[in-house]
Amino acid sequence: MNLILFGAPGAGKGTQSELLIKRKDMTQISTGDLFRAAIKGKTELGQQAQAFMDKGQLVPDSIVIGMVEEVLAKGVKNFILDGFPRTVAQAQALDELLNKMHLTIGKAIFLEVPMEILMDRLTGRRVCKNCGAVYHIVSKPTTKEGVCDNCGGEVIQRNDDKAEVIGTRLKAYEEFTSPLKDFYKKAGKFTAVDGNRETENVYNEIEKIIS
Ligand code: AP5
Repeated sequence: MNLILFGAPGAGKGTQSELLIKRKDMTQISTGDLFRAAIKGKTELGQQAQAFMDKGQLVPDSIVIGMVEEVLAKGVKNFILDGFPRTVAQAQALDELLNKMHLTIGKAIFLEVPMEILMDRLTGRRVCKNCGAVYHIVSKPTTKEGVCDNCGGEVIQRNDDKAEVIGTRLKAYEEFTSPLKDFYKKAGKFTAVDGNRETENVYNEIEKIIS
């Protein structure tokens, strides 16, 4: 089954995608990760995206949609869209792409987490500069401070996880992404999952939904 996993910044989309990849053999398409890879590779796409990401703003729809189309055109199967779509215009463009490519989405799973929890998750998140593994200074610390358990790479704070940028990201979520709940309710694909629980409990509910 192909899935959309959506929710506010810090809702746990990346964390749940990682489990679905390992345990259900799914493929993650994370627009945030694709942009971060482009920034690391110093590509033109990366340069365009960085200007928006560093300020906590959404990257323009035309750039994001083109990037996702390229990935889907490679024939990826059993995928999780993580962080896309993020606006109603992106959701409409996705429908068109899926029709064109004879693909379908089974469910649009919304991870529901209260705002005050999101703030704590985002300010406390740390990521490996090398392999992208995600940690949290309290709920999922590295064994050795600043060193990735997976690959030994340097563990850092994302630029957009600084307190002054998080506010803009959360506002962008409320204004542009929250309306997707109604979009997918109308499409009969919407399912909400309480994301404010132990990671394993959140995963178990998602697994039930997709089984
Ligand atoms: P992106 O990378 O997609 O960021 P985001 O949506 O803001 O989501 P996050 O990665 O911050 O959070 P997450 O939900 O994956 O949470 P995580 O699992 O890491 O996008 C970054 C930027 O790129 C955007 O701001 C925008 O500029 C641009 N962009 C990307 N896509 C775009 C699009 N479609 N259109 C336009 N622009 C786009 O968890 C967070 C923390 O919480 C971690 O520390 C984790 O360990 C912890 N945690 C997770 N689950 C739990 C739990 N159950 N209990 C306790 N702690 C938990």
